[in-house]
Amino acid sequence: MASAWQAKAARWIRPAAWLGGLVPLILLVAGAFTGGLGADPIEYVTLRTGFAALLLLMCTLAVSPLRRLTGWNWLAPARRTLGLCAFLYVCLHLSTYLVDQGFAWTYIVEDVVERPYVTVGFTAFLLLVPLAVTSTKGWIRRMGKRWQKLHRMVYLAAGLGVLHFIWLVKSDLREPLIFAAVFALLMALRIPALAGRRPGRAAAARRGAPGSRDERPGETRPATTA
Ligand code: HEM
Repeated sequence: MASAWQAKAARWIRPAAWLGGLVPLILLVAGAFTGGLGADPIEYVTLRTGFAALLLLMCTLAVSPLRRLTGWNWLAPARRTLGLCAFLYVCLHLSTYLVDQGFAWTYIVEDVVERPYVTVGFTAFLLLVPLAVTSTKGWIRRMGKRWQKLHRMVYLAAGLGVLHFIWLVKSDLREPLIFAAVFALLMALRIPALAGRRPGRAAAARRGAPGSRDERPGETRPATTA
């Protein structure tokens, strides 16, 4: 039987994830009203929304390994919420970029084709669109097992987001490399799952946590689902 605090956590995980996911946006809106967006607000917003998108994608990918290692299955609903927030920031990021380019479509197409970091950024965006669109329970029901296959694309999108960050940085590579290390760790933590070894499963069974039955293949529920 789940402990009292786990039952409470299961009730609050989704609102907490929404609040956490929207903090960067709240800070940007506050900055817009208080003149806190720096000398070049467009570039400031582009960088902050890009950073928030990548950070939330990493948080999304951390939910399943964390659940497996702790047996805390009440964490699962955070995946969809954090994933949708990540997609929100990617859309704000792309929109700010389009505003920055003055919606000069010919130049934007050239930029996407010719600048590798923009090419991989755009590809990551294109990969996230179907994940966001199919994030509803209806799509999960309709697609069945194909849904999980489709939502494994979140790994590629996150990897391209990290590459985008590494390629765009001119000097200080520390932040992009920290993201690359976190991404590599989150992928590595999934390898036991592929090999059928579940360190968290025994722990979950021992603690009698709700849903300690392994959710595989639901493990890769994308960041953008319930
Ligand atoms: C939709 C296509 C995308 C375009 C056109 C784009 C474009 C850009 C541009 C122009 C910058 C600022 C470069 C600079 O001022 O030096 C940037 C930064 C960034 N973008 Fe993107 N991006 C795209 C998609 C993405 C996606 C999908 C992610 C994450 C998943 C992402 C994450 C980032 C990050 C982390 C930064 C650096 C932020 C920082 O330095 O704090 N971008 N992007």
